[in-house]
Amino acid sequence: MTETININLGKRSYPIYVGEHLLTNGDLFEKHISNKKVAIVTNETISPLYLQKISKTFKDINKEIIPIILPDGEAFKNFETLNLIYDELLKNRANRQISLVALGGGVVGDITGFAAATFMRGVDFIQIPTTLLSQVDSSVGGKTGINHQLGKNMIGAFYQPKCVIADISLLATLPDNHLSAGLAEVIKYGLIRDFSFFEWLEKNINGIMKRDSKLLINAVICSCKNKADIVESDEFESNIRAILNLGHTFGHAIETATGYGKWLHGEAIGIGMVMAAHLSEQMGWLKKEEYQRIKSLIVSSNLPINPPEISKKDFLDLMQLDKKTKDDQINLVLQQGIGKAILTSDYDEEKLHNTLLKKSF
Ligand SMILES: NC(=O)c1ccc[n+]([C@@H]2O[C@H](COP(=O)([O-])OP(=O)(O)OC[C@H]3O[C@@H](n4cnc5c(N)ncnc54)[C@H](O)[C@@H]3O)[C@@H](O)[C@H]2O)c1
Ligand SMILES: [Zn+2]
Repeated sequence: MTETININLGKRSYPIYVGEHLLTNGDLFEKHISNKKVAIVTNETISPLYLQKISKTFKDINKEIIPIILPDGEAFKNFETLNLIYDELLKNRANRQISLVALGGGVVGDITGFAAATFMRGVDFIQIPTTLLSQVDSSVGGKTGINHQLGKNMIGAFYQPKCVIADISLLATLPDNHLSAGLAEVIKYGLIRDFSFFEWLEKNINGIMKRDSKLLINAVICSCKNKADIVESDEFESNIRAILNLGHTFGHAIETATGYGKWLHGEAIGIGMVMAAHLSEQMGWLKKEEYQRIKSLIVSSNLPINPPEISKKDFLDLMQLDKKTKDDQINLVLQQGIGKAILTSDYDEEKLHNTLLKKSF
């Protein structure tokens, strides 16, 4: 069964479909792609797995396909790769009547979305996220973009797709460490605003780790619903959307200190959420027992909970660089119980230092 979650953003509203075997569902594609020409943007890892299958579906509904295969990796989420997309589109005489299809994880989704936002001042696009992280996070909400040498995701646009098709069957080929990394963002929704989802995750984490499809579908649906609610109330991140950054200020510091690519984003976020919980517990905002429950769910997801060797000074410098900083005060998303998060600079500095100095959680 396919479930539909609607993102209500006025004229930019769109559905997210969650289910199995959706790549062969021509009706679904036909409903959201009115143009005859379709550029399928994917990468070298995903194309041998799924390009043929999706191409057949498009041919069956009489679409003309332009496949665009990008190199794989965060290192290629840059202007050169973006330019490859423009090159292929122009070589194939694409005009405004083209639809772009992003078939891949967050890297392909972000770069394709940005290409769609900018090619001919904006063309239609749909997202087919193929990693757990992209199904529950990056494909939802309209943030698109590329990295700049001087910073991650520094160039981009808010640009919403026509629909998102989250096909759980595609996760069968996803490496284990990427499944865990995606779970960090899933757990995040429970922590910031959905206590009953957190409890459900505690009960079902072992089945999820075994990739039980019913459980995975429910995890993706609950995550997307939570993200949809937040995006609907703050599409352009002026306030409430910031709570989605739970664990991210700590996590980004870990990613930067160790060099991008050493830790997967979700792995760094898992540690970051443990650190945020530790600080919240010291502040008396989270009970000891709640802190333990958070840690134990993250451990059960096969995510690390201890940060690499980073000095307190380096940690602080890197956290200050994070874009959440206002007037030198590091704003942090912290817990007030499980299921409630706040963005605050109103915590005890010394307690933050205790957290940063702790080697083992
Ligand atoms: N736009 C947003 O709101 C948002 C939110 C969170 C993250 N992001 C971005 O998302 C990116 C990370 O996304 P990601 O974690 O999906 O990484 P990714 O896109 O690099 O994919 C991870 C790896 O898995 C491979 N892969 C993807 N799907 C597969 C499948 N079904 N089977 C086998 N292998 C598969 C990819 O080729 C890649 O090697 C980052 O660039 C981050 O900035 C964006
Ligand atoms: Zn994240």
